[in-house]
Amino acid sequence: MILVVGANGMLGRDMMGVIGGAGRGVDVDEVDITSLESTERIVRTLKPEIVINCAAYTDVDGCESNAETAMQVNGEGVAHLAMASREIGARLVHVSTDYVFDGGKGSPYVEDDATRPLGVYGESKLAGELNAAFNPDHLIVRTQWLYGLHGKNFVETMLRLAGEKDELAVVTDQIGSPTWTVDLSHAILALVKTGQRGVYHAANAGFCSWNEFARAIFEEAGLPVKVAGMTTDELNRPARRPLYSTLDCGKLEKDTGFRLQPWRSALKAYLRLRNT
Ligand SMILES: NC(=O)c1ccc[n+]([C@@H]2O[C@H](COP(=O)([O-])OP(=O)(O)OC[C@H]3O[C@@H](n4cnc5c(N)ncnc54)[C@H](OP(=O)(O)O)[C@@H]3O)[C@@H](O)[C@H]2O)c1
Repeated sequence: MILVVGANGMLGRDMMGVIGGAGRGVDVDEVDITSLESTERIVRTLKPEIVINCAAYTDVDGCESNAETAMQVNGEGVAHLAMASREIGARLVHVSTDYVFDGGKGSPYVEDDATRPLGVYGESKLAGELNAAFNPDHLIVRTQWLYGLHGKNFVETMLRLAGEKDELAVVTDQIGSPTWTVDLSHAILALVKTGQRGVYHAANAGFCSWNEFARAIFEEAGLPVKVAGMTTDELNRPARRPLYSTLDCGKLEKDTGFRLQPWRSALKAYLRLRNT
């Protein structure tokens, strides 16, 4: 059995859908990963072979003013899951982020590039990566720019704003790979099925700026919204973000044969599904 922790979140719900009958999902109403006792209780009771951690404190700006909560959930929570899974001989699969990098490399990041988070969220997620090692049988999957049917995300925000405005300003100087949670779930399952360990990068293929992504969303949805440009400095959010943090997914493809589709075709598939 595969236990998905954070199963009510955006990725967790699609992860459960992709796993199907072999999955059991729990969220904060059944387990609080900030408590070792709560985490051990659920893992000992359910005795999974694999634990996939999709639980996190994901409010990047909120983390700046709630650093303690960020470290408790994203850092210590992973230590608890690692210890609990190790105790029963289960593998821990942990989902992490491109925000462990500073975005200054200028080309796609590979798995063993040096980390240097710019904000509290990235620091707490990096702590989680390190804490995953409490279970030697662990797999870390870094991803980025997620969207899916079951959570707040950029695509849904753009579609909502399209109903309110004719013109929007969207940042041009942050580059990444928009990634559909369904495609990511298949990538994680491919890694699990082929028994991979260590760190992997997984994101939809290709890259764009948030501005280009917004334009693509409106084009694919047939919405006549004008998209103006702005810089990250002009947006002035509490948390600093990496400017160029695309992830090289070559290791995933080499070791599993699985390649995530290009981000634009994933967006099309998502919008089709959303409209059915
Ligand atoms: N979203 C992105 O763009 C993005 C990008 C890169 C990486 N990631 C990573 O991908 C993973 C999934 O992200 P997501 O966007 O699907 O997150 P999400 O929608 O925020 O889901 C996270 C889930 O974890 C639960 N949770 C929070 N604190 C918990 C606790 N103490 N114990 C147990 N469960 C708890 C949340 O419950 P509540 O909602 O009740 O708090 C929620 O159901 C995370 O590891 C995230 O860091 C996300």
